Order: sequence, then structure tokens, then C-alpha cells
Amino acid sequence: MQTMILGDGHLGWAIAAAAGERGERTPVLGRPAFERHDRAALAGVDLVIDASSGEAVRANVETALDAGVRRFVVATTGWAFDREAVDGALRGAEACAVVSANFSLGVALFARLVESAAGLFGTVAGFDPFLVEWHRRAKADRPSGTALDLAQRLTARHPGLATSDDLEVVSIRAGASPGIHLVGFDAVGETLELRLTARDRSAYATGVLAAADWLRRAPRAPGIQPFDTVVDELLASGDVLAA
Ligand SMILES: NC(=O)c1ccc[n+]([C@@H]2O[C@H](COP(=O)([O-])OP(=O)(O)OC[C@H]3O[C@@H](n4cnc5c(N)ncnc54)[C@H](OP(=O)(O)O)[C@@H]3O)[C@@H](O)[C@H]2O)c1
Repeated sequence: MQTMILGDGHLGWAIAAAAGERGERTPVLGRPAFERHDRAALAGVDLVIDASSGEAVRANVETALDAGVRRFVVATTGWAFDREAVDGALRGAEACAVVSANFSLGVALFARLVESAAGLFGTVAGFDPFLVEWHRRAKADRPSGTALDLAQRLTARHPGLATSDDLEVVSIRAGASPGIHLVGFDAVGETLELRLTARDRSAYATGVLAAADWLRRAPRAPGIQPFDTVVDELLASGDVLAA
């Protein structure tokens, strides 16, 4: 079994470090010299973790499929425009990818809290929902993939919101913050806030490796699979490790 990480930035190296703590040596590849990675660089690899950039994901997955890889964990955000094509390529090759805008187990549970809160506060008149996310100045995409996912979940369960556009979402890009997501409900006399603050990238790395383990544990359905499915299995087994 050999894992390869595509993406030599903050996240890629955090995953390599977490794998190293488990005694696994996981090579990391950065941006290829030409348009695509060389298939030969992926020889013998059974699982690819993508932590690159949105516009690179489709080519990275296609090249890895060509090289015989059938298991993927895609942590990269900002590639919604290629999602259908990537899903089709995976299904065509009977390959599976766990995809999430946020692999933190804390965020996965936070999202479930947000869903419950939306159902509760949505039934009480006068509570106006909002979402604030704050990341380091250099983060390219806004709103963050996590904020988009939280907005979708909140909208789906809040009877007062027809679409995500009805929700006030604010993005801050300043300083070095590794990530804050805050979901609030504001009424005339009080405010409720649910806030999750990332301290470093270790929580993402732990979830990425949990997804890799899930892929290797049993044959999985082809195509894109959500991290929620992995979390459900972890919760059911009681085998949930903190970063
Ligand atoms: N799902 C999650 O839990 C989670 C958590 C954190 C971050 N993310 C996402 O993960 C991605 C990476 O985050 P990051 O903070 O590590 O960003 P980063 O520090 O900018 O690193 C990305 C690296 O990937 C390189 N790269 C570009 N194209 C590539 C390719 N085809 N193959 C391999 N490497 C390539 C970039 O090279 P250049 O500098 O030459 O462009 C850069 O060094 C972003 O999309 C981010 O939003 C997801």
C-alpha cells in the first residue's frame, strides 16, 4: 500500500507529518513542471490524497486513474466546476473518492449541530440566521468551501430560507487565522452563536487519514462519496480519534 500526496503546501505537508506519526512514509508532489503529472510518478501508488489547488484537481485525478489508482481523498476546495466530470471519470474506472471541503471531525460534528439549530431556530419567529468565516489573508477562495457547505445545510433545514442566497454570509481575509466559522441567530433581545475555531491543520490531516483508512477497509461504491459517510461509520464503531 502506497499513498501519494499531490500538493506541497500547508495542508499537504500537515498530512505527510500526520502520516509520519503513524509510521507511514508518504511522498509529496508539488505543481508539475508541465501541465500534468507524469503517470510514471504514480507507479505503485494505490491511494492519492489531493491537497493542491482547485484548477488542478481534474487533471490530477485523471492522471492518477490512468496510472491505475482507484482510491482518492480530495481535500482541495474550489473545483465545483469540474465536479461532474471528476465523478464521471471515477465511476467509469470504478474508483472512489472521499471529497470534503473540510476533513476536520470537529467540523463534521459542528455541521450536525448547525442543522439541528437551523431546525430549532427556524421554527421561532424573530431569529435572523447569519454566517461569518475568517481565514488567513492569502486564502484564495471565498466564501470558504466549509462556509458554503454550512450555508447549504442551514438553508435546507431552515423553513424561513428559500435558497442559500437568503442567508447573510460574510468572509474575512486578514492575518494568519487558520479558520473560524461562526453561525449565529440574532433576535431583538438576544444572540446565539455557534463558533468553531481551527488552531492548526492537524484536525484536517487526521480526518484525511481516517478517510484513507475507510477507503482501504472495504470496497466502496464508485464515484464521489461524502466525508459524512466516513464519520457515520466512525461514530457507529466508537472509533473516533481526536487530532
Ligand atoms: N478539505 C479540508 O479539510 C481542507 C483544509 C485545508 C485546506 N483545504 C484546501 O486544500 C487546498 C490546499 O490548501 P493549502 O493551504 O495547502 O494551500 P497552499 O499552501 O497554497 O498549497 C497548495 C500547493 O499545491 C501546489 N499545486 C498546484 N497545482 C498542483 C498540482 N497539479 N499538483 C500538486 N501540487 C500542486 C501549489 O503550488 P503553486 O504554489 O505553484 O501553486 C501549492 O504549493 C486548498 O484548496 C484549500 O482550500 C482543504
